[in-house]
Amino acid sequence: MPRSAVAIVLPRPESLAVCQHLAEAGFEAIPVASTDELERLLENRDDINVAIIDGETDFDRALEMYSLLHDGNRDIPALMLVPPRALSRMGFGATRDEYFTRPYSVESIRWRVEAMLIRVENLPAGNSAQTLLEPATRSPIAEESAMIGGPGQAESGPKGKIVIVFNPKGGVGKTTISINLGAVLQMRKDRHVLLVDCDTITGHVAQSLGLERPRTLAGAWRDSARPGFPGSAAVRVVESVTQIAAVHSSGVGVLVLAESPLHTEMLEPRRVAEAISEARSSYDYIILDMHPDYGPLNQALFSQADRILIPVTPDVACIRAAVQFREIAEDLNLRDRLSLVINRANSGVSASDVERVVALPALARVRSAGMLFVRASDEGKSAVERFPTAKVVDDIDTLAGRLMDVTDPQGTARQGVASHGRIADSFKGLFERITAQVS
Ligand SMILES: Nc1ncnc2c1ncn2[C@@H]1O[C@H](COP(=O)(O)OP(=O)(O)OP(=O)(O)O)[C@@H](O)[C@H]1O
Ligand SMILES: [Mg+2]
Repeated sequence: MPRSAVAIVLPRPESLAVCQHLAEAGFEAIPVASTDELERLLENRDDINVAIIDGETDFDRALEMYSLLHDGNRDIPALMLVPPRALSRMGFGATRDEYFTRPYSVESIRWRVEAMLIRVENLPAGNSAQTLLEPATRSPIAEESAMIGGPGQAESGPKGKIVIVFNPKGGVGKTTISINLGAVLQMRKDRHVLLVDCDTITGHVAQSLGLERPRTLAGAWRDSARPGFPGSAAVRVVESVTQIAAVHSSGVGVLVLAESPLHTEMLEPRRVAEAISEARSSYDYIILDMHPDYGPLNQALFSQADRILIPVTPDVACIRAAVQFREIAEDLNLRDRLSLVINRANSGVSASDVERVVALPALARVRSAGMLFVRASDEGKSAVERFPTAKVVDDIDTLAGRLMDVTDPQGTARQGVASHGRIADSFKGLFERITAQVS
């Protein structure tokens, strides 16, 4: 099913190329040739969420079209093609519109449209993208579950950090890094960790940790919605995430969102994001292992993140995916929360090249470890438990230390009794950062 409809008013050869590219990306791309045609389209369809308009070839016609997009109750953002010299003189004023100039690539148009639609589909007209970052207003369900959330749901006290591990490309190490980062923080850094498998399609955190069919968030919410479940119709007993999570032998809490992609109907994205955020009062770190997509669930979760780690393997496809995500994150005002983790870092490409191309700093490097991760997960363990002296586990340890530095510097400092190893670690980290800046 098409994702969203986009009207395209460009000269014919460009229109064909852009339409084809957007259609391949799953949008319904509708070419429009005249003002009358656009007017008819807008009268007949209420799902046109972005319009691409050529304001360079015929500026007067573009103005007419622009006013159609913002006529009466309508407020459809325009992606306007303008002559470069006109940019400084534009006076359209509406904040959701964007502008571009020739020459452009159809791919860049696709990602601009993608980012504009993320805003249109998530925010009511008139709100800025910044609103997405503010804490979500609680739904009545979340109010209820907060009230009856059970142990560990104290309202005050330090709040745990939400760390998302995401790259829109598959197979780059998101799950591997999530599991082992969680284990290091729990077992070596004395932090209480919840690991959440947010990949409702191909997630395998529980299997990798040897947890047989753990309870899931979707399952618990489905049960609580059944007639006869404890509680009255007015106040239903909704368990907190902390109560639903299983506990792995490493001490890490493990929450799986759904047991199968067919059972996600209960997982309304905002409700899931709120429930996870509520668990901040029970954990120091909540690590979210994500499915590689930009769907509504991931968007709701992005807005809750204190830090988003992007594992990048040194290959073109993965680096392009990271660039794409950085661009989208910029549009969502999330850029300053992003850090790369260079995975399989010893495969020839320099970390600084990856940082330069993606235009984001790397927090740490994780070397290639052959079958070590696979062997650990065959035994239902993290590599931290199974191969504690492996060099790759040192890499993850360094990653965890730096993550703590950026997410909770006071918390790190508060550990006045830091072990010798940790002090040496921080010093090593500092030294590496200084030498990286100099070189
Ligand atoms: N540094 C590494 N050294 C050796 N093997 C690795 C490393 N990182 C990841 N792998 C292996 O690569 C494979 C893919 O990793 P993983 O499942 O973590 O990727 P993912 O990004 O979560 O994938 P998906 O997008 O499908 O969820 C796994 O077999 C994992 O063991
Ligand atoms: Mg994965």
